[in-house]
Amino acid sequence: MTETTKVETMIWQGGIEGCLDLIDQTMLPTEILRIECEDVETVWEAIKMLRVRGAPAIGIAAAYGVVLGLQSAQEDEDAFFARLNEIVEYLATSRPTAVNLFWALERMRRLAETKRANFEGAEHLREALLAEAKSIHEEDRRMCHAIGGHGADLLSEVEGVLTHCNAGGLATAEYGTALSVFFTAQDRGHSLHVYVDETRPLLQGARLTAWELMQRGIRATLICDSMAAQVMREGRVQAVVTGADRIAANGDSANKIGTYSLAVLARVHGIPFYIAAPSSTFDLAIESGDQIPIEERCSKEITHGFGRQTAPDGVEVYNPAFDVTPADYIQAIITEKGVINPVNRETIERVLGVV
Ligand code: MRU
Repeated sequence: MTETTKVETMIWQGGIEGCLDLIDQTMLPTEILRIECEDVETVWEAIKMLRVRGAPAIGIAAAYGVVLGLQSAQEDEDAFFARLNEIVEYLATSRPTAVNLFWALERMRRLAETKRANFEGAEHLREALLAEAKSIHEEDRRMCHAIGGHGADLLSEVEGVLTHCNAGGLATAEYGTALSVFFTAQDRGHSLHVYVDETRPLLQGARLTAWELMQRGIRATLICDSMAAQVMREGRVQAVVTGADRIAANGDSANKIGTYSLAVLARVHGIPFYIAAPSSTFDLAIESGDQIPIEERCSKEITHGFGRQTAPDGVEVYNPAFDVTPADYIQAIITEKGVINPVNRETIERVLGVV
């Protein structure tokens, strides 16, 4: 990728009085527009409207959102912490499914609480919280690169691979989760042919994944979601790799709507289905995918996609943004700490190092 085409998902500009500069992903692929978030409300809106999206990127943006919200906090300790709690609760209402959002907010709150015993003033704490947000950002970068390494090992015999939604650099600090596997394979001289589900209704596959792959010179073929079965039947792909928004303790994984159907199709065709996700996407507090909250979005995303009415006025619509793939359908989960295979509570705890 050349410097002119490299796009940073998010950049923090300046010190504690700075702002969050992020690419508005709703404008891609036709326009590379950056927006400057100068207050927490703009970050909330950017997450809600999918200007910044993808589980890890949402978490990073929210962490910086906390810093922005505290710029106007009073110096008094109690008032400062009251404002912190208010901001954390507010940002937590932006989107419900990706656990990285809650994970990052909890990390910010915990950092502040540990410093409360020796409160050295609001400015000192603001500095510490900005440093924590930057750590979350930087750690995600490292996790994505590590995921790529583990995943590329798994795909060494694969020529064609299918992916869904966008789990690329745009969805993370950099490099991505599922796409980092393809990028790493390419860096090692292994050219993959990636089939990209367009990903109805918001077309993250067509608008974002196809764009990212083409930026890097990886062969990408766009298909409608409904074509996946035929693509598998024709033997065009030997693996499916997607990201995840939340993984329960038993391995059930929520990801963009349509992922579950791909996993079922992959099973029927004898093709391995992999999830690539950092440890920040695991929610070990919930037993199974039944407890994952599934976001429902506005009906207009289906009836008036991209500015044109495509359904009759008043039609009833159901628009869940995510689905849950049962652990049993997942061949392996590729994390920065290693590959979880088979997928069950014991292997998850062992690879993540939580036992
Ligand atoms: O609604 P979105 O675009 O935020 O959904 C994103 C996904 O489903 C991604 O696959 C997931 O967050 C993993 S991103 C590394």
